Amino acid sequence: MTTEAAIRVQGIEKSFKDLHVLRGVDFDVRAGSIFALLGSNGAGKTTLVRILSTLLKADAGTATVHGFDVAAEPGDVRESISLTGQFAAVDEVLTGRENLVLVARLRHLENPGAIADDLLARFSLTEAGNRKASTYSGGMRRRLDIAMSLIGNPPIIFLDEPTTGLDPQARIEVWQTVKDLAGQGTTVLLTTQYLDEAEQLADRIAILHKGTIIQNGTLSELKRLLPPAKVEYVEKQPSLEDVFLALVGDTDVSDTGGTDDDGRRTADDGRTDRAVPARKEAR
Ligand SMILES: Nc1ncnc2c1ncn2[C@@H]1O[C@H](COP(=O)(O)OP(=O)(O)O)[C@@H](O)[C@H]1O
Ligand SMILES: [Mg+2]
Repeated sequence: MTTEAAIRVQGIEKSFKDLHVLRGVDFDVRAGSIFALLGSNGAGKTTLVRILSTLLKADAGTATVHGFDVAAEPGDVRESISLTGQFAAVDEVLTGRENLVLVARLRHLENPGAIADDLLARFSLTEAGNRKASTYSGGMRRRLDIAMSLIGNPPIIFLDEPTTGLDPQARIEVWQTVKDLAGQGTTVLLTTQYLDEAEQLADRIAILHKGTIIQNGTLSELKRLLPPAKVEYVEKQPSLEDVFLALVGDTDVSDTGGTDDDGRRTADDGRTDRAVPARKEAR
């Protein structure tokens, strides 16, 4: 399955009354890769993810997930995927471990406790496992959410805006989690409105705009669409760092006169040649 498309989307259309959200969307996602669907708020990312995860029917077009048609074989599709929505589905009253055990039980899996412990370890949540999820940071909660969605080892996972609303540290944690998943062979389709997220994570990036995919490629392919970088000369204002270093940087230089770095004799009137910038400019 490594060279086949794990997800194939062809001519998908979807309208809500007069609102034509998807106007013929096409793309393939290679098995084991991370594919980012990039689009602004309201572009139709969640609508597409809902169609691919069989929660919503398309008006036209076809899509297969793990080789199964989303319209004709929704049960098989559901067994092949997990979906982590934009808003964490964690039960706050339960501990992290209890959340995982609950999902494993709902999926009728054997040894739910062992499954929970394994996932807690994989997501660096072992220590926090017996604490209520309400005490978790945003990043821990989202990691638990993703861990819950992995129960049953689905080969394909959909992450709808996995880091929206997270602080920078939590985003980095989630990014690492997603990279680890793909490293273990899981196919990841994630949606994002953040350019840096797509840049950090994705093997391929597709831009959804006005109902269609307007670009689809690797990061370097997308970068090549723009003219080559131009060198521009910009007048640089000193930063606070420049000012700070100019003021304190030479404190080890003797102020009683001596030789400077070039071996020249410096002034012995109590000032060195390299004092604060204002003096330099005055010379
Ligand atoms: N069930 C629905 N009924 C009517 N309009 C909807 C429905 N779901 C989404 N929309 C509209 O479709 C557009 C795309 O929404 P969505 O797929 O959620 O975008 P995104 O996830 O990219 O922010 C938005 O304008 C949204 O208001
Ligand atoms: Mg959305």
